[in-house]
Parts: sequence; C-alpha cells; structure tokens
Amino acid sequence: MSQANSLLKQAKQLARSGDMEASKKLAPMLASEVRQGVEKAPAQKGEASLSTLLEAWESGSYTAWTTSLESGNEAGARQSLVAMRAQCASCHAAIERPMIHVVGVR
Ligand code: HEC
Repeated sequence: MSQANSLLKQAKQLARSGDMEASKKLAPMLASEVRQGVEKAPAQKGEASLSTLLEAWESGSYTAWTTSLESGNEAGARQSLVAMRAQCASCHAAIERPMIHVVGVR
C-alpha cells in the first residue's frame, strides 16, 4: 500500500477544490490500493483479524465517503474523508504498527 498516502493526499486536494467528479474516480483506486496491500501483507501481530478490519474500513468510513461523493454532498465528503483517514490509522494501530505514517487530510 505504498501508494495509499499519495492517493489520500490527492483526495485531500480534490476535496479542497471541490472536484467531486475526480474524487469519484480516485476513490476506487484508493480502496484497491488498500485491499491489495492488506492481501499481500504478512501475518500481523495483534488481536484483530486483518480481513475483519478491512471489511470494517470498506463498509464503514470508506463507504460513507463514496456515498457523500455520489450524492454530491461536498461538506459530507470532506467530513467523511477525515473519518476515513482516521480508520486507516486505527487499522495500523490494531495490528500494532501505529508508526506507519498516514498523511493528514485537513
Ligand atoms: C485493514 C487494515 C488497514 C487499513 C484500513 C489501512 N491499512 Fe495501511 N497497512 C496495513 C497493513 C497490514 C500494512 C502492511 C504492514 C506490514 O508491512 O507488515 C499497511 C501498510 C501501510 C503503509 C506502508 C506501505 C509500505 O509499502 O511501506 C502505508 C503508507 C499505509 N499502510 C497507508 C494507509 C492509508 C493511507 C490507508 C487509508 C487510506 C491505510 N493504510 C489503510 C493495514 C491497513
């Protein structure tokens, strides 16, 4: 998932400029970068299962973000991008890798 930060940074810039159409195209690229990264990652420390964490991210804050994008809710999309970014970091925390840097989106 080495591209995840640069995609997230692009998402932040698109959110700032209010470019919903470009954000809608970027979203699935970010999701597949995360999914592929998780699938090829070695077994992790920590209690939580990676597949459960991934499903929680995809169906939680990621879906909230794309739903806002689809419905043209610009303020909602910005808020859910912040929540989605937090859930990136909480997955890393759950696998005891809190030091993995995730770019800020504010
Ligand atoms: C479901 C859990 C999960 C989610 C959600 C998640 N990550 Fe990760 N992330 C991982 C795992 C697992 C690794 C690999 C850790 C390892 O190398 O052992 C990783 C590694 C990384 C790395 C280091 C990549 C590298 O190749 O050096 C970055 C950067 C990263 N994640 C960014 C993100 C960003 C940005 C998001 C959200 C858009 C995100 N992650 C969401 C689990 C997750």
